[in-house]
Amino acid sequence: MALTNAAGARILCASQFPAPDSATLEMHRRRERPITFSVRQMPESIPGARAAVERLRTYPALPLVTTPTPIHEMPGLRAALGGGPRLLVKRDDTIPFGFGGNKVRKLAFVAAQAVAEGADALVTTGGIQSNHARVTAAVAATLGMRCVLIANGSRQERPTANALLDALLGAEVRYVSSREERNAAIDDAMAELARDGRTPFKIPLGASTPLGALGFARAVGEMLDQGPVPDIIYHSSSSAGTQAGLLAGCALHGLATRVVGVSPDDPVASIAGRIRDVMHGMGPLLGVDGAALAGARPIEIDDGFIGDGYGVPSDASRDAQRLAARSDAIFVDNTYTAKALAALIAAVRARRVPADATVLFWHTGGQVGIFA
Ligand SMILES: Cc1ncc(COP(=O)(O)O)c(C=O)c1O
Repeated sequence: MALTNAAGARILCASQFPAPDSATLEMHRRRERPITFSVRQMPESIPGARAAVERLRTYPALPLVTTPTPIHEMPGLRAALGGGPRLLVKRDDTIPFGFGGNKVRKLAFVAAQAVAEGADALVTTGGIQSNHARVTAAVAATLGMRCVLIANGSRQERPTANALLDALLGAEVRYVSSREERNAAIDDAMAELARDGRTPFKIPLGASTPLGALGFARAVGEMLDQGPVPDIIYHSSSSAGTQAGLLAGCALHGLATRVVGVSPDDPVASIAGRIRDVMHGMGPLLGVDGAALAGARPIEIDDGFIGDGYGVPSDASRDAQRLAARSDAIFVDNTYTAKALAALIAAVRARRVPADATVLFWHTGGQVGIFA
């Protein structure tokens, strides 16, 4: 007897599943097949770039990222969009450490500095459901450090998702009512820990410092070692570390790849300003001119998918979330990655991406937030 769900759709028991047809099998094979690409490189655009790439490979970082994270095709999504450009995804959501995501790459570098400075406590900030705060708490737990998180918002009666993990990881969460109060609360926590004889280390929002951004500059080398040189990378961009790192990495490797950051909150000008500042600061760490690095690539940001605001799903983000799950079993979160994927989908649907292009969606994680 055929069962149906509430929407009237037929439900199949395992024994009733039809054998996969050849097109389905081919789709799975394409996900597994090694990917080959034609390399489109440009000459060294910044003096010292080659030496900087070498420096990047050996820069001190904690081994938090199990690399390389997979890159595979999204044949289901491509088919759902009616063909068009080749769609790849880089799965930083699958980083095993602390439920993964882009913060692990940044914190691997920043926490290495904390260790080098003899820190025994990490202090940082974010929203109640901050992915960055959760990964910072995970890093502190594994290093045997104390962790103080300054969260803007109010305490949940029953913590969910990232807030639940923060508690499990043993972090102390202090609440402030607005973003504007965060910095003063960080300073208070730092002073208090120091008075208690601790050596606290402050990690700015999103670990988006020049040092943290090195994690994503290094990740470009990882992507190249895997083969792909995409024409365009789409990803979620907010506190700037991810995009600054990707842009710097592409510039240092001489790639012509466009990097499009999709904002979940702020307008283009403020994110672009932060990216420029972070890239400027990366220069001295890598032995290249900061201004040359910051000016090496156009900074492309799309703030057209914020909808009603930070963390508020939009029709486009809901659509992207469902489509990714139902076509390729990829999960994107409401706050960051669904909006970034929505921008990619809109560009493909509007034929703003040439059909012969390769587009890589850099999945920056955030899947824990789905359970908020
Ligand atoms: C899941 C996820 N994706 C993307 C971002 C944006 O990255 P960044 O802050 O480095 O711009 C964040 C954090 O803000 C995030 O948590």
